[in-house]
Amino acid sequence: MLELKNVSLSFSNQKKVLHQLSLQVNDGEFVAIVGRSGAGKTTLLKLFNGMAVPQQGSVWVDGQCLSECSGDSLRKLQQKIAVIYQEFCLVQESTVLQNVLNGALYRHSLWRVLTGCFPAEETERAREALRQVGLTDKAEATVATLSGGEKQRTAIARALMQQAHIILADEPAASLDPVTADRVLFLLKRLQQERNLTVVMNSHNIQQARQYAERIVGVRQGYIVKDAPASAWSDADFASVYGVRDE
Ligand SMILES: Nc1ncnc2c1ncn2[C@@H]1O[C@H](COP(=O)(O)OP(=O)(O)O)[C@@H](O)[C@H]1O
Ligand SMILES: [Mg+2]
Repeated sequence: MLELKNVSLSFSNQKKVLHQLSLQVNDGEFVAIVGRSGAGKTTLLKLFNGMAVPQQGSVWVDGQCLSECSGDSLRKLQQKIAVIYQEFCLVQESTVLQNVLNGALYRHSLWRVLTGCFPAEETERAREALRQVGLTDKAEATVATLSGGEKQRTAIARALMQQAHIILADEPAASLDPVTADRVLFLLKRLQQERNLTVVMNSHNIQQARQYAERIVGVRQGYIVKDAPASAWSDADFASVYGVRDE
């Protein structure tokens, strides 16, 4: 389970970006965080893997408080969490297979990391992950030659390779055309259900949040303004999260 308890955060001496947020995400849930650009969605997501650290409150992953973890214990927690980004964050000049294998780096010694020389069973796992996302034929292709949808599916395969049970997806479909976006989110949803993964997805796309998430959390100017099952969100609720009052 992921949990924020009364979390507030600001960057250096600037005004607060997140205000007293409390949020629980249960195991196996698909939660969408919606809100306008600048609302604090990315910062909220970063709290869960320690990429952002709050000044107040606490962040919990699987019953452990992040601020009480460091070194090995923090790394172990971070290994449970994979991140998928809008801009994919892949190594462009490497092959698809190599990028997927990068998801397993933490399981291996430094020399393997440096030489990129993985045991055969890891390569098999990487090929299986590629099969899961429908990229068997692209294993040897260079990432730079892929379409956006293929790049995002490579990133999903890397998350599977990491054997993470939590996926943080920061606007995973925002750089994709609508049809490709749907395919990628459908894939993410299918894997979440098959593997009982927990997914927290940032999105500014209301339709996508409604279609794929079980629960939607609305963030406006760093406050959670609504947290309810997707079916309980009316058009008026979305309008208030995105409201002109933000300007
Ligand atoms: N590293 C940073 N340093 C200073 N301000 C930041 C930093 N990251 C985000 N912010 C600010 O925090 C606010 C929330 O940003 P962000 O979490 O990226 O929102 P969203 O993902 O909803 O667009 C914005 O005002 C943004 O400018
Ligand atoms: Mg963002």
